[in-house]
Order: sequence, then C-alpha cells, then structure tokens
Amino acid sequence: MKVIVIDDTRINLTLIQHLLKRLDDAESLLFEQSTEALQWCSDNDPDLVIVDYMMPAPNGLQFIEQFRADPRHQDIPVLMVTANNDKDVRYQALDLGANDFLTKPIDNKEFLARVRNMLLLRRSQKALNDRATWLAEEVHKATLEIKRSERETILKLTRAAEFRDPETGAHIQRMALYSQLIAAQLGWDQAQQELLLAAAPMHDVGKVGIPDHILLKPGRLDEAEMVIMRKHAIYGHDILADSRSPLLQMGAVIALTHHEKFDGTGYPQQLKGNGIPQVGRIVAIADVFDALMSERPYKKPWPYEQAIEFLQSQRGLHFDPDCLDAFMTKLDEVNAIRSQLKD
Ligand code: C2E
Ligand code: SIN
Ligand code: SIN
Ligand code: FE
Ligand code: FE
Repeated sequence: MKVIVIDDTRINLTLIQHLLKRLDDAESLLFEQSTEALQWCSDNDPDLVIVDYMMPAPNGLQFIEQFRADPRHQDIPVLMVTANNDKDVRYQALDLGANDFLTKPIDNKEFLARVRNMLLLRRSQKALNDRATWLAEEVHKATLEIKRSERETILKLTRAAEFRDPETGAHIQRMALYSQLIAAQLGWDQAQQELLLAAAPMHDVGKVGIPDHILLKPGRLDEAEMVIMRKHAIYGHDILADSRSPLLQMGAVIALTHHEKFDGTGYPQQLKGNGIPQVGRIVAIADVFDALMSERPYKKPWPYEQAIEFLQSQRGLHFDPDCLDAFMTKLDEVNAIRSQLKD
C-alpha cells in the first residue's frame, strides 16, 4: 500500500515515516512540497494520503480539493494532520473530502490505529472494485458465449433445411450479406445490422415443409404446385415464431414477409408498401437478386446486367424504392461479396 505524506517540516515527515515502518505492507513516499505531491498524483494513485494543513500554498485544504478533482482519486482515503483544533478548518476539510484527522503532536498509538483503519478501508475498496470488474467480465464472456451458441444453433437449423433444398449455403451467406449492406445504407445501427445478418439465413427454413416432388422439381412449377410452395413463408414463420430471442423473432418476420411485394401482389398476406416490415422489404431484394444470379433446378443463372435491369424494373412494384436505391448504391460491395462467395 502506497502512503504519501505531505508536510513542509522535514522532522514531521521523518517521524511519520518512522511510524509507518511498523506497518507490514505500507510503503511511504514523502513530499516537502505539496506541488510536487500533486505532480506525482497526476500519474500515480496512492492508497492513502496523509497531508499537513499548514503549508505554503497549496495548503492542506487546497491540496485535498485539487487531489479530489481527479475522478480516479475520489475514493482514496485522506487523513489531514492539523496543529490547531479549529473546528472551521476541520469542517472545510470534511467538505472537501478528508476522511479523518490527526492532531499534532502526533500520538503514536492513535496514528497507527487510524492509518490501519484507512488502509483496511482502502483494501476492501480495491477488493470490491476487482470483484466488480471480474464479475462484469464474466457476465460479458457468458453473454458472448450464449450469443455464439444461439447463432451456431441457428446455423445448424438452416444447414438441416439445406439438406433438402437445392439452394446452397453460399446463396444463404450472400443474401444475408446483401441484406446487411442495404440495412447499413439505410442507417441501421451496428447491433441491428448484425441481428439481420444472422436472421436473414432463416428466410427459407419453411421449405423443410414442402414435399420433395415440388421442392426438387427440375422444371417449372404449375400453379397448384406454386400454391403449395408459397406455404414455405408461413411454415418458416410457424417454426420460428413465439420465441423470446430477438434473433428468432426477426427470423420469423423475415420468413413470413420476404415474398411480399411493395405493390401488394406478393404472398402470403398481400401486405403493401410500408405495411410490409422493413426487414421483409430488404431481404426480398437480396433474395431475388441472388436467386436470379444463381442456377436453380428450374432455371439458368441470369446475366448480371439483366438481373440489375429486372430489379430496377420492379422499383415500386415488387421492391421498396428506398431499399432498392440503397442496394444500387452498394453494387461495388455486392460484387465484392459475389466474387468472394462463389457457389
Ligand atoms: P428461389 O429460387 O430462392 O427464388 C426466390 C425468389 O426469387 C422467387 O420467389 C422469385 O421472386 C425470384 N426468382 C427466382 N428465379 C426467378 C426467375 O427466373 N424469374 C423471376 N422473375 N424471378 C425469379 P418465388 O417466385 O416466390 O419462389 C419461391 C421459391 O419457390 C423459389 O425460391 C424456389 O425455391 C421455388 N420455385 C419458384 N418457382 C419455381 C419453379 O418453377 N420450379 C421449381 N422447382 N421451384 C420453383
Ligand atoms: C414463379 O413464380 O414461377 C417463380 C419465379 C419466376 O421464375 O418468375
Ligand atoms: C411471381 O410473380 O410469382 C413470380 C415472379 C416474382 O416473384 O417476381
Ligand atoms: Fe422464400
Ligand atoms: Fe432464398
């Protein structure tokens, strides 16, 4: 424990230093000038301050005031040594943050008792702080671990769906990244963007409920088959809904609304315009763009220019104009993602 002693009289310093040697773990630092002590305190944290009242400026009161002004020094115990029994000085010292007093001439027994008490206080303060810091770190680690395992569980859930779905994992990663790009351009905060990045891959989990002869059909679906296929939006929602997890909640909304169209001609609820949750409007663009650019059992990949043209032609029809403009602003990044995540 570092004890700093500030007194303009050398003999007092020597006396106190001598007394402090009787304490096991107190290391003393002596200052004859209070300015030097303040200087030292600007780079260091003592565990106890013993300061004389009567000194050339800054005197004991001024010293305490300046010492306490540093937020790091708000809890460090301060003992003031004073020759006079002037109550006013003591009251002022208390107001400025002194914790206790010693009267000159110093009584050895009393001095040691007070210093021990103050150091005990300081030690438990430090232990409490350490414990609070440790606890906060543990909570942080545990929270990260829960988040990580939630994301992993969701990844595995989407992997299970992929076993049956001809769509590849790369499609899912790309469309999630495109969704995030759009959200970023729309000004979403980082946490919401990350939620979207993790939730978008769940958009088609409901396809696990679609029979193979439809899901895996090599050619075009007829209208009756399409009616069944469209149920994947509701199935996905039903799988993910009613969770307390914000991630699964967002996944449920995305599953339900990613095939709605801005003009109200989508499915399953024929929602229109801003009546479609924004995540649904965002994911719709990311999903369709990537589906167009991909090979499917029922179609060849489209050329890039044609896909972009198609998206533009659907501005305000299939797609929310604002979300589409956001996507178009980010085409450089979209292409970077495309070249990094090939099928
Ligand atoms: P998906 O293949 O991931 O396609 C997602 C969405 O991208 C489609 O939603 C559609 O809006 C758009 N899309 C994909 N390919 C084309 C295309 O060649 N032309 C145009 N204009 N849009 C395209 P949609 O139509 O609701 O389909 C949902 C899912 O149903 C598709 O997901 C796919 O799994 C399946 N599906 C749709 N049509 C057929 C089909 O003719 N044959 C088969 N086997 N599956 C189909
Ligand atoms: C469909 O509705 O037939 C699937 C998407 C498309 O190819 O237009
Ligand atoms: C459809 O209108 O159902 C197929 C084309 C599209 O979803 O954009
Ligand atoms: Fe879908
Ligand atoms: Fe998809």
